[in-house]
Amino acid sequence: MNISLIGSGYVGLVTGACFADLGNKVICVDNNAAKIKDLKANRMPIYEPGLSDLIKRNVKESRLSFTTNLKESVNRSDIIFIAVNTPPKENGEADLVYVEKVSKEIALSMRSYKLVVEKSTVPVNTGEWVERTIKTFNKHNIKFDVASNPEFLREGSAIEDFMNPDRIVIGVSSSKARDILTKLYRPLKAPIIVTDIKSAEIIKHASNSFLAMKISFINAVSDICDRIGADVVEVAKGMGLDKRIGEKFLAAGIGFGGSCFPKDLTAFIKMAERAGYDFALLKEVAKINRDQKALVIKRIEERLWNLPDKVVGVLGLSFKPNTDDIRNAPAFDIISALVGQKVKVKVYDPVAMPKAKAVLKHGVKFCKDAYETARQSDCLVIATEWNEFKELDFKKIKRLMRQAVIIDGRNIYNPDDMKKLGFNYTGIGRR
Ligand code: NAD
Ligand code: UGA
Repeated sequence: MNISLIGSGYVGLVTGACFADLGNKVICVDNNAAKIKDLKANRMPIYEPGLSDLIKRNVKESRLSFTTNLKESVNRSDIIFIAVNTPPKENGEADLVYVEKVSKEIALSMRSYKLVVEKSTVPVNTGEWVERTIKTFNKHNIKFDVASNPEFLREGSAIEDFMNPDRIVIGVSSSKARDILTKLYRPLKAPIIVTDIKSAEIIKHASNSFLAMKISFINAVSDICDRIGADVVEVAKGMGLDKRIGEKFLAAGIGFGGSCFPKDLTAFIKMAERAGYDFALLKEVAKINRDQKALVIKRIEERLWNLPDKVVGVLGLSFKPNTDDIRNAPAFDIISALVGQKVKVKVYDPVAMPKAKAVLKHGVKFCKDAYETARQSDCLVIATEWNEFKELDFKKIKRLMRQAVIIDGRNIYNPDDMKKLGFNYTGIGRR
């Protein structure tokens, strides 16, 4: 099939490259000319394991190309996926200006039947707006369908997730759209759920919010564990083996971040509000997540007493391992609270340093590795569970630090081992 992906970010690029790898002819479009120039030169604008090789292979086989020319790309495609960003507005709702702009451009460009698919995460009723917009600017009265096909991939394992999904959700209002998308996804051999467009839009928000709720639930339990001296890791294991609960997304820590959970949660709360429902449960999920980050500062104060002029090393800047994405990364909330209290902050991340340097201009020292971060620090905070932090030389770390204090925000170490090594160690929910 001939496919366009409008928006070549974390989702558009991975989705486009994977569709190409499945044998389709794909054009990835972006209005960021620098990004397209980089992609044409096989320079990756993002860090995503396996993406560079996947792109290289499919470009070589002439199944994948990149352009800033939306019009030409639309005309050469039967299916057009909208994968632009849908950032939060100040009031928490999703900002859909890019979705509208692209819908209008598609309408002005198309000369034959097109299936226009929402891949971006969008609030309910966006499908209707996209259809209305295309109808308004579709001067040649060309036939088209709109569909919703939410994406469930995670950054850091995006290719694996795309190629092996638990399910594929297709929201359609015509059998033609259903048949095209079902055929496109058939090679993935995953269950395909066909719904109306609104239900598909809700499935995406309900899924992300449910996962965020699981994380906040275990973080609330971790608070209780802290207070009474239980171990949340054991508790999560004991809960998770019940198949009805499941082991995944029960890792207590400094809270969820990223470009999606925080924004999709508030967008769902707003969507419910518009429909006349007060989603108080999700408001609490967001509050627990905010509290989790403040907890780290409290723990540091409990161990270091007065914060001004103390030195704190932060290991990990990306919102999770195996990505360079720093959008809403918990590490940044912690760093800004520390800098605000006149703490000298040293940081290190295996891949997110270039993106972090563009944002953290003052009061932070960028280090070359975990050991340089530890040198002369009064405390080390683990903010992201990168593998390389799991196997450090702790005798060396202890020698380098001014005070051997570790706040393990991702529970990657064994508390007993760390205490035996002589650290004043605190995890989350497992003192
Ligand atoms: P992103 O910011 O990485 O990428 C969006 C891209 O769209 C950017 O490169 C931007 O330049 C481009 N763009 C914006 N307006 C454009 C226009 N008018 N014409 C052409 N290109 C345009 O965002 P992302 O993380 O890929 O997310 C995209 C959407 O997918 C969001 O709605 C997000 O919620 C959803 N989503 C993201 C993930 C994820 O893991 N990042 C997973 C599932 C769903
Ligand atoms: C998440 C969803 O998992 C994807 O299914 C979805 O497609 C995507 O959002 C999206 O809509 O953009 P992602 O944000 O890439 O994917 O990463 P996750 O692995 O879900 O982690 C999100 C955050 O939750 C991270 O900060 C992570 O550290 C945190 N987390 C995750 C926990 O604190 N505990 C856990 O048990 C799991």
